[in-house]
Amino acid sequence: MRWIGDSQGTLWLIDQTLLPGEFREIECTTVEQVWEAIKMLRVRGAPAIGCAAAYGVVIGLQGLTDQDSRATCNARLEEVVSYLAESRPTAVNLFWALDRMKTAAQALPDLSTEQLRSRLLDEARAIEEEDREMCAAIGRHGAKLISSGMGILTHCNAGGLATAGDGTALAVMFAAAAEGKEIHVYADETRPLLQGARLTTWELQQRGIPVTLICDNMAGWVMKEKRVHAVITGADRIAANGDSANKIGTYSVALLAKAHGIPFYIAAPSSTFDLSIESGDQIPIEERKPEEITNGFGRATAPAGTQVYNPAFDVAPADCITAIITEKGIIQPVTPENVRALIEG
Ligand code: MRU
Repeated sequence: MRWIGDSQGTLWLIDQTLLPGEFREIECTTVEQVWEAIKMLRVRGAPAIGCAAAYGVVIGLQGLTDQDSRATCNARLEEVVSYLAESRPTAVNLFWALDRMKTAAQALPDLSTEQLRSRLLDEARAIEEEDREMCAAIGRHGAKLISSGMGILTHCNAGGLATAGDGTALAVMFAAAAEGKEIHVYADETRPLLQGARLTTWELQQRGIPVTLICDNMAGWVMKEKRVHAVITGADRIAANGDSANKIGTYSVALLAKAHGIPFYIAAPSSTFDLSIESGDQIPIEERKPEEITNGFGRATAPAGTQVYNPAFDVAPADCITAIITEKGIIQPVTPENVRALIEG
């Protein structure tokens, strides 16, 4: 993603719904466009959603001038933050970034509207830059867990498209490959929206990392065949006990990895942790519209009127997670004490 211009500038996003067929950037000039881009997964992945929303706050304040009082400005800020917070419920990075924007504004009550907008643009830029650095650090820490010859399974897309940097799970793979380790990635296609097939394979191919695409229901067999030696996925929200929400299907992969004695790693920045909730039971799971399953890419794949349940995320229980790779280091074993010590320390 790129911000072009000063605080009256615009946000440019890759429209991920069009990949891999078409690489098109879209310009967001209104907060409604940013909301729509998040809701429709044009921009997606927990850290990327947070960054986009932070820039969305700046866009939301663009209609105001120094003629408007600070009270008017604060009211508009509240409105914009609440509106963007409604776009998607599961990835905590969205709420983390919006809170951070609000806190930055509250810390400077005497700024004029235009000064405040500039300050908020600096904050959004800082969120984006820090995310890039967190990805790099996750890569460095995670690469230590990888050795040459490993087959690594991943689910959904936790790469550059999902963050401001190199990704989380994919950052580990990029860093391991940069160290000269030979790895082979198995990418689950990730029904219903195919983030694995469309986005993860695209990113890995561009970086020259061997990747084999499999349907989601093949993961267990591929493990049984000993092609996979580790699983690494991203996360959308991690509770205080280490339970980790990620794209639907991650729960099954975590159970399968445990059954086969294969390490299951989550890679995520500290902005993905929600220490206000004790366990994954409290993570809100987004439910998306049935057409994603019955008419995924423009063609009916089920009879009209078929009943559908479409949760977009599930939760990998902490006792299935071998370690959580963060920018601050590795949490292993995954216990509430270790989570708190690393994230709050
Ligand atoms: O619905 P999506 O595509 O936004 O879901 C994304 C995921 O589940 C990712 O694995 C997660 O956000 C981690 S991204 C570094």
